[in-house]
Amino acid sequence: MEVIILSGPEAVAELATDVIVALLARQPDSVLGLATGSTPMQTYGRLVDRHRAGEVSFADTTAVLLDEYVGLPAGHAQSYRRFIERHFAELVDLPEASLHGPDGFDISVEAISTAGSRYEELLQRVGGVDLQILGIGSDGHIGFNEPGSSLGSRTRMKTLTDQTRRANARFFDDQLDAVPRHVLTQGVATILDARHLLLLATGASKAEPLAGAVEGPITAMLTASALQMHPHVTVIADDSAATSLQYGGYYRETYRHKPAWQSL
Ligand code: GLP
Repeated sequence: MEVIILSGPEAVAELATDVIVALLARQPDSVLGLATGSTPMQTYGRLVDRHRAGEVSFADTTAVLLDEYVGLPAGHAQSYRRFIERHFAELVDLPEASLHGPDGFDISVEAISTAGSRYEELLQRVGGVDLQILGIGSDGHIGFNEPGSSLGSRTRMKTLTDQTRRANARFFDDQLDAVPRHVLTQGVATILDARHLLLLATGASKAEPLAGAVEGPITAMLTASALQMHPHVTVIADDSAATSLQYGGYYRETYRHKPAWQSL
């Protein structure tokens, strides 16, 4: 794991944007894994700016979502698909047909019971994810892999913890009852299949889960800790999110002396 600690959310977003723009310059037909939540928003905003400035195109790119609520009507403003469309996909030249997500909208038994395996097939079909952007939940989850999720899990339905529903109520006018109880999420093992994982963490509320993910034991009780098993993970955190890292000084030193030829 490479851990990079920067001054604030702006610097985190700037570097994350650079990594994505560099990938698309090398490989325009990359498969990008997109996370929702507030953390990557600034990165998406900067990608839109860089696109408008003619510095990056998504015309040949495929984008896949990490997770989706179950039971919201298609087109609901807070569905993860709609969220990504509004804040990113519709603002760049990503073809509509190149954005994919788990189908949590059709909740017929037939559809919902196969939604996970169908999404796994889709991920295979597009050739797997080249770069997966990740945030981290306050309980240390990645995607919606809540504590206790198998580290070998694939895309499937999960029940949200009260903690996660409360954290996400802000997107539903603070109406806890409006936050769906169920979600479809890439499994931990699905996420680990991506070739490069880019975990972004900003703000003091992420200090404890981030320390668990980077320096704690690998445990299903904090699913981001599974990232320790992946050969290519870049963690970009701001100072506030890095306060509980035991080796923060060492990570800063390592990044400061990173050889110029070594890309992320
Ligand atoms: C949700 C998403 C995660 C995200 C997390 C943190 O639970 N499923 O992918 O990382 O929220 O969100 P935020 O960045 O808003 O703190």
